[in-house]
Amino acid sequence: MEEKKIKLTDLPGIGQATASKLESAGYSDLMSIAVMSPADLAAIAEINEGAARKAIVAARKMLKLGFENASDYLKRREKIFKITTGSKNLDNLLGGGLETAAITEAAGAFGSGKTQLGHTLAVNVQLPKEKGGANGKVVWIDTESTFRPERIKQIAKAKGLDPEKALKNIFVARAFNADHQMLLVDKIRDLLKENENIKLVVVDSVIAHFRAEYVGRGMLADRQQKLNRHMHDLMRIAQAHNLAVYITNQVMANPAVMFGDPTTPIGGHIIAHGSTYRLYLRKGKKDARVAKLIDSPNLPEAECVFYITDKGISDQPS
Ligand code: GTP
Ligand code: MG
Repeated sequence: MEEKKIKLTDLPGIGQATASKLESAGYSDLMSIAVMSPADLAAIAEINEGAARKAIVAARKMLKLGFENASDYLKRREKIFKITTGSKNLDNLLGGGLETAAITEAAGAFGSGKTQLGHTLAVNVQLPKEKGGANGKVVWIDTESTFRPERIKQIAKAKGLDPEKALKNIFVARAFNADHQMLLVDKIRDLLKENENIKLVVVDSVIAHFRAEYVGRGMLADRQQKLNRHMHDLMRIAQAHNLAVYITNQVMANPAVMFGDPTTPIGGHIIAHGSTYRLYLRKGKKDARVAKLIDSPNLPEAECVFYITDKGISDQPS
């Protein structure tokens, strides 16, 4: 939170003109400078590499990037909690539910339930703690116009919440393109500054705009660089405010797979490394869906079944 108060112009060698150049290239906060390479900063800010290195070192010092003792680390970990998905099976798969201070990704084909899970989470986070919620509010970044207020009302009602209040607790923004999507993450900080108790951020889908705008091999490096920054921005908000981030991802055909499901999440290692938990969803019979946890550092790879019902995600078919 502190990082926002320090301006780019507080860094040595960064004047107003240079700061503007950086900001228009999307580097608007200290952290984005702290993690840059001197060569990149020099190129973007049009300064020499020595000056770039000094600015980076200063940014790192100001952010106190370095070690923290294990006791502080533990204290931070102790604040982390889980938001229920509405399905015990799915909660268990995730080690108790959707974790705060982390990014959970759901990848899957059309109709696999990614958006439906998002809708359910957007209601569940509003429940009291003892019911698996956080009395929290939601930011929903919608890239495909698939957010459905009617669906929120329906799920809220089923869970005993006032449907109108449930809607008021969700801040929805339509992202028109990848840059706008990234800008919206910045705007979340403004809401948080106004003391809105946001405990869930949904980005549905995280990849669609990037995939549409950066086509062809020549664009891939640019795309991945931007996506990387986007994932870092999301993680920073998650950790700084102990909130859960839920992102959806598309899948593509993977010709290398001979047996089983021949699709694989897109976004490559950027999304893979940027997500703390990765769910792979696929259709089962009727309303049944199968979730598989992939690449988790601390949980075993496992699968479970859940259902999409009128009341949201559930262990039982409706
Ligand atoms: P894409 O965004 O197209 O990639 O798919 P997705 O993974 O986001 O799928 P989504 O979450 O939109 O799931 C769509 C499925 O949810 C549909 O096949 C419906 O069967 C189911 N569904 C949506 N609304 C309802 C509802 O109100 N009741 C029930 N029972 N099922 C619903
Ligand atoms: Mg969807």
